[in-house]
Amino acid sequence: MNRTFQWIDERTGLSGPIRAFFNYPVPKYVHRNFLYTLGGLTLISFSLQVITGILLVFYYDPSTEGAYNSVDYITYILPLGWLVRGIHHYGASAMVILISLHMLRTYYYSAYKKPREINWLTGVLLLFLVLAFGFTGYLLPWDQKGYWATKVGTEIAGSVPMMGAYITKIMRGGADLGQATLTRFYATHVMLLPTAVALLIAVHIFQLRFHGMAPPITERAKAQSKKFLPFFPYWVVTDLIAGLGLLALLVYISYINRAPLEFPADPTSSNYLPRPEWYFLFFFQLLKYFPGKLEPVITIAIPLFIFGSMLLLPFIDTSEERRPWHKPVTTLVSIFYIVVILVFTYLAMAEFG
Ligand code: HEM
Repeated sequence: MNRTFQWIDERTGLSGPIRAFFNYPVPKYVHRNFLYTLGGLTLISFSLQVITGILLVFYYDPSTEGAYNSVDYITYILPLGWLVRGIHHYGASAMVILISLHMLRTYYYSAYKKPREINWLTGVLLLFLVLAFGFTGYLLPWDQKGYWATKVGTEIAGSVPMMGAYITKIMRGGADLGQATLTRFYATHVMLLPTAVALLIAVHIFQLRFHGMAPPITERAKAQSKKFLPFFPYWVVTDLIAGLGLLALLVYISYINRAPLEFPADPTSSNYLPRPEWYFLFFFQLLKYFPGKLEPVITIAIPLFIFGSMLLLPFIDTSEERRPWHKPVTTLVSIFYIVVILVFTYLAMAEFG
């Protein structure tokens, strides 16, 4: 075995960089705080999505005639198909939850401040792309839920002043939903987004290694900031244990609750109530209070403002202060957003029953 490694190393020179990667010293306070596992868990959930996604592609048929039947076959007939689809289906929600919690952790620890601006910016883009994963994946089973939610979603994009109709047409690949829409969503979901996310994660992790972890915010952690432990085994093992816990949870949920599949998409049904994935519900609910000409306030102005302010945050909040309890503005703004999202998600859920 040793001779094989030596043979490979003499030809590739990889052992040096690999050793440096795993021996990288990480401050001791990081190992003691489970909030620092959220980034690693997001990475593990992305890896699970990629593995289960590749397995699904072997059986999924990306045509309007075959998509529904292939998903039905995977869920109810293919051995362990329910498990692979279940992990992929519930894993998508887990990834949205984990990336949001990870973002909140870095936000409250002011980890976006100089010199970690690029780390934060790649993070914001990753959040956007993860939501795009959810939006494009929802249509793929070609059932009533995915069809009608996508119809509404692409209509909402049409409310952009001047370019709206054009954007809707690009997203749908025509005037209405059809084969071109499914092909575009499929290509985006399985090719474009995974490539973009993988590249951004590489930049994100490289930045992390380049700058090291942001300084701690509590006195107790500060006292440990001069002590270090190697990345392997300490951090790797903690993240892997957390990852196994996540996988076990996803297997359990997939077992007790098969990933849902409604009736096949029926473009002629007139009484179907469109319902998006739970993490878009608050947005959907807010839209109801801004009908007609006011719609672009919710569809364009507010998302632009939120993503814009997130991108600008490291350049606006440039003070040295990192403790959230000494930064009332950023802390209260985040609490306001969280309350709005929770309240409107609740209202939407209550309405859908
Ligand atoms: C696929 C998505 C993502 C992956 C795989 C990922 C992964 C990671 C990992 C492994 C870490 C180090 C451990 C930790 O702090 O938990 C980290 C740190 C960081 N992440 Fe992410 N992340 C993602 C998305 C985001 C998002 C959405 C944001 C914010 C908008 C963000 C901002 C940051 C920042 C600022 C740090 C540095 C933390 C520090 O120095 O204390 N990340 N990320």
